[in-house]
Amino acid sequence: MGASIIVANWKANKTPDEAAAWLQEFKTEGLEGKTVILCPSLVHVPQLHYFITTNHMPLALGVQDISPFDSGAYTGAVSAKQIKPLVSYAIVGHSERRKYFHETNDEVVEKLKRLQDAAIIPILCLSDMGQLEYYLSHDPDLTKNPDACVFVYEPPSAISGGGVYKPEDPSAVSAIAKKMQEKIGSTAAILYGGSINPENAKTFFQLEHISGGLVGQASLDPQTFSAIVHA
Ligand code: PGA
Repeated sequence: MGASIIVANWKANKTPDEAAAWLQEFKTEGLEGKTVILCPSLVHVPQLHYFITTNHMPLALGVQDISPFDSGAYTGAVSAKQIKPLVSYAIVGHSERRKYFHETNDEVVEKLKRLQDAAIIPILCLSDMGQLEYYLSHDPDLTKNPDACVFVYEPPSAISGGGVYKPEDPSAVSAIAKKMQEKIGSTAAILYGGSINPENAKTFFQLEHISGGLVGQASLDPQTFSAIVHA
């Protein structure tokens, strides 16, 4: 079986013109049965939302992070309720938020609550079992139905850097995804993230307990990402 959910995490890349060009070049044929979620920088969200809806493209939109606060006097923040008309998903708990912005488990829990209030589906990044156990103990709603959350196992050591891919061992991914599924239920989606590229995508997408992937570096080029989506 191939992947059913594939997320493109563009991180802090692309100008508005480059973002528009990507969408024009990305081929949307053959996406039936798959959920492809684009997570551009916030600055691109209104433009991409307009393009996707006016062209009836079979793509979903997400943001890469969300404010832990509700709407209000929080300079520089964007709340879940503000962005809700434009997106269906939000990445939350990415290890780069911890590494560069000192995000804590408790902040992730607050973000999850804001997303739930706004009915945005979290794409929850997990570096290990400990994080999963922490979030579940603070936010049991994550497993209230199989569509309440998309879980991603993404070991920080596997995230590509400087254009170099260093994926996790597939058998280790399958083993930890199995353990995660024992906690969250067998119908919840668990994706793998970290150095997915056209050469290894099929291997990861065919793993037992894995329903797709979170793709960073290899999502920046529309043809490369397309090859992954169809792997
Ligand atoms: P990568 O990034 O595919 O470039 O390793 C994945 C991620 O960090 O979301």
